[in-house]
Amino acid sequence: MTEPLLQVKNLTKRFGGVAAVSGVSLDVFPRETLAIIGPNGAGKTTFYNMLSGRMTPTEGSIVLEGTDITGLPPQRISRMGVSRSFQINNIFSEMTVRENVEVALSAYHGHSRRWANIATRNKPIQQEADSILERLSLSDLAHRRAGVISYGDKRLVEIAVVLATRPHLVLLDEPTAGMTPDETHRVTALVKSLASTGNYTFLITEHDMRVVFDVADRILVMHRGQSLVLGTPQEVRAHPEVRRAYLGDADEEMAP
Ligand SMILES: Nc1ncnc2c1ncn2[C@@H]1O[C@H](COP(=O)(O)OP(=O)(O)OP(=O)(O)O)[C@@H](O)[C@H]1O
Ligand SMILES: [Mg+2]
Repeated sequence: MTEPLLQVKNLTKRFGGVAAVSGVSLDVFPRETLAIIGPNGAGKTTFYNMLSGRMTPTEGSIVLEGTDITGLPPQRISRMGVSRSFQINNIFSEMTVRENVEVALSAYHGHSRRWANIATRNKPIQQEADSILERLSLSDLAHRRAGVISYGDKRLVEIAVVLATRPHLVLLDEPTAGMTPDETHRVTALVKSLASTGNYTFLITEHDMRVVFDVADRILVMHRGQSLVLGTPQEVRAHPEVRRAYLGDADEEMAP
């Protein structure tokens, strides 16, 4: 059997007396797309914060490709090939769209973060940035200031930045929230196309069930910090407790 890329055991994060994530165990296998769903406050972002090193777990362990990364700082984890997007946008609004991607590429290639020098000096980085922007249909916006483009486009730029570091494991936190149907489609098409190259493993949190059932190989349902169900889309769709606890009367939304 394939070794898991990521092994999470009994992961717990408490804030004061409240357990935001409580005893979650999960194996993530190479090349799969695993969606994490659950109502607001279920603990999805907190789970990501521990995986990416932004928060130290109260208990439990995280092993990436055989290495214990529990509690390591974000930069270390990022250099090991884990990259994440944020639920709230996290790009540089004073830079152009292309410069945002160039900064990420430049950091990945170990160059200076002084972005002003990049565009004029580094042709390969420019070309790589252009090809990433093209994949996301963002080429037309390459020279616009990131602060002035639409909300959905900003979120697409953030995904471009996430992919620039060529991560093995990509954590996307509600990537399509606030997007138009067209922008959402660009994200799902990109995730599916990257997943099909066999070089990427995705964790994706989402409230939009159409996106979840479109991209996910497996689904983890979180509820009140705990892992409620982990299974294939069919298993999750059929699970009575999931319907009751999370999906409620959303049967229609769950239809294929
Ligand atoms: N830094 C923090 N300090 C205190 N409590 C926190 C902190 N971060 C999260 N929480 C709490 O932990 C719980 C889980 O929050 P989290 O943001 O992980 O949920 P989520 O599943 O990402 O929700 P959403 O779908 O709204 O993004 C919530 O009750 C939240 O209020
Ligand atoms: Mg969240």
